[in-house]
Amino acid sequence: MNLRIFSYDVVSSTQDVARLLAERDIQSGIVLSQSQTKGRGRFSRLWHSEKGGLYCTIFIPISSESAHMLPFIASLAVRNTLAAKTKSIVQLKWPNDVLLNGKKVAGILTEVQHGNKPRALIGIGINVNQKSMPKPLAKQSTSLFIHTHKKSNIPLLLNQLKKNFISIYSAAIENGFSTIIADWKKHAHMLNKRASINTIRGVVNGKALDIDANGNLIIQKRNGKKMKILEGDVTLISRT
Ligand code: BTN
Repeated sequence: MNLRIFSYDVVSSTQDVARLLAERDIQSGIVLSQSQTKGRGRFSRLWHSEKGGLYCTIFIPISSESAHMLPFIASLAVRNTLAAKTKSIVQLKWPNDVLLNGKKVAGILTEVQHGNKPRALIGIGINVNQKSMPKPLAKQSTSLFIHTHKKSNIPLLLNQLKKNFISIYSAAIENGFSTIIADWKKHAHMLNKRASINTIRGVVNGKALDIDANGNLIIQKRNGKKMKILEGDVTLISRT
């Protein structure tokens, strides 16, 4: 996989730039920007994107067998990249947040560019060198710097992330997605805990039992029934 890096000082969103590059018939690559004026997160949320964070979009052609794997591959690649930089616990929160000592340090937004050559636009935001997080976010979010007290070199971190992404992607193609899910689950923070999941169809409460081979979250409700959740936002209620 050839992932050339396109670097910018400031863009609206690396997702938008990746879209434009793909329209110019560039097959794949990574857009990196030092800051974004309109960084976006899942569920149309704003993603704070001042200088100091890592903001990138990996864009690659989608094949039907790889589409559902990409957010899991990307989040595992981010986890492994950060785990190599700190002794703190780096975990995964379904479907694809990365937590550092229980607080969100990175998020992933996967969009699909339709057309005759469909592409996945995997947007990754990592809080790297921010000395503190903005007030409304500080309770739930953190940065690598807050834990390590060391400044990280963002282009070097991206290179490591790129290597990890390519190696996990290749392993998924070679050995199957279930091996990636098995690895992902080893780092999952919420399995066997009680959780509340906000989905587009409403809130579901129950115990987070498992993540199935396709990456869906399996919840056991109070009445014992199991439910498969394809997309949502997880909040832990308490330990069981
Ligand atoms: C989330 O946790 O809601 C996902 C956040 C994704 C943010 C990244 S930053 C780089 C890329 N460009 C964007 O506008 N969003 C993603």
